[in-house]
Amino acid sequence: MLLDMILNKYPAQEDSLIEILLEFQDAKSSHFISEAEVKQIASYLQISEAKVCSVISFYTFFRTEQKGQHIIQVCRGVPCHVTADINIVKIIEKELGIKVDETTENKKFTLEYTSCLGLCDKAPVMRIDDKIYTNLTENKIKAILAEYRVYN
Ligand code: FES
Repeated sequence: MLLDMILNKYPAQEDSLIEILLEFQDAKSSHFISEAEVKQIASYLQISEAKVCSVISFYTFFRTEQKGQHIIQVCRGVPCHVTADINIVKIIEKELGIKVDETTENKKFTLEYTSCLGLCDKAPVMRIDDKIYTNLTENKIKAILAEYRVYN
């Protein structure tokens, strides 16, 4: 099992917690950490489940609910905000029929905000999974989403 394999790579000590959580969440296809997995991690590291949960809730990049297959993150940094003459989020919300922090019913997409992605000179910017899209326009956004719907 995936979690067993990852746990066995790390020493059973509290210092391993963040690395284990990061690697496991990244490797798991649904990209979230369930209650049962919290228990297993806590047991392996011989720490309390509350300790594992506190770390998960402290770092915003850890997830405890199933998200979509693709995570769309729209930059809400100031340069992106002032450069965009279109409302990126509204376009995506309309295309997918969800609001920010929601997941489509088919679990294909989750829509979130993110802070600056470091490409302010190419604003507006969004990221889907590990891929960054720049100089967004309404047509470009629709074409990107259409491609994900068909090929990913
Ligand atoms: S503010 Fe959006 S990439 Fe920097």
